[in-house]
Amino acid sequence: MNIILLGPPGAGKGTQAKMLMEAKGLVQLSTGDMLRAAVKAGTPVGLQAKAVMEAGGLVSDDIVIGIVSDRLDEADVREQGAIFDGFPRTQPQAEALDKLLVEKGLTLDAVINMAVEDEPLVGRISGRFTCGDCGEGYHKEFKKPAVEGVCDKCGSSNFKFRADDNEETVRERLKAYHADTAPLIDYYTATGKLKTVDGMKGIDEVQAAMVAALEG
Ligand code: AP5
Repeated sequence: MNIILLGPPGAGKGTQAKMLMEAKGLVQLSTGDMLRAAVKAGTPVGLQAKAVMEAGGLVSDDIVIGIVSDRLDEADVREQGAIFDGFPRTQPQAEALDKLLVEKGLTLDAVINMAVEDEPLVGRISGRFTCGDCGEGYHKEFKKPAVEGVCDKCGSSNFKFRADDNEETVRERLKAYHADTAPLIDYYTATGKLKTVDGMKGIDEVQAAMVAALEG
């Protein structure tokens, strides 16, 4: 099974993708994570992407399509299926994904649109932090570690914050979402594969709605 999670920054795509990995055995394919890894490693892709990401804009379609194409050739994705998290984000990326899936003999089973309101997303993102060792995501209000300062999953105290998680950049990211990504709701409605869940509910309720949408 291959599915797309569609939604603005802070909608909960990464949170839900990690839960779906466990529930459905799928592999999370997050272009944001892949680009951040490239920036950290100082690769040519990372050098091109860094400033754009810090400003809240979109990295060029060619770069992003290239990294997704390479990832789709790896065994885990081919065998287990992918949750596309943060891709596609523009119509050219959606069209390129259609082509890549045909070329690679893969299919798209569903697109889950996470319906959320803009203003609460700023609070969600500014409260976010992640375990620097295992990648588990948290929120200072909505998803606290059971023991303050200690990761539930791996016991680390090495928490980190993203460079683009400040209010000004989040507002730019929301603008980019409305201009370039929201039109994909119509694109995928036309395919008959779009399912919408209410992303303003609690994390577990959203997950239950997603699982039901995928099984329904
Ligand atoms: P990316 O990493 O994809 O970021 P994003 O889309 O802006 O999404 P986020 O990771 O901010 O949010 P999310 O929806 O995953 O929410 P999360 O689950 O963390 O992209 C970063 C940048 O890379 C882009 O700006 C762009 O420059 C570039 N890029 C990436 N892909 C690209 C592409 N395809 N094309 C071009 N450029 C690209 O949740 C947020 C917080 O809220 C967490 O703390 C969580 O605990 C909490 N939370 C989650 N769900 C709930 C809930 N239901 N209730 C309460 N709190 C919740």
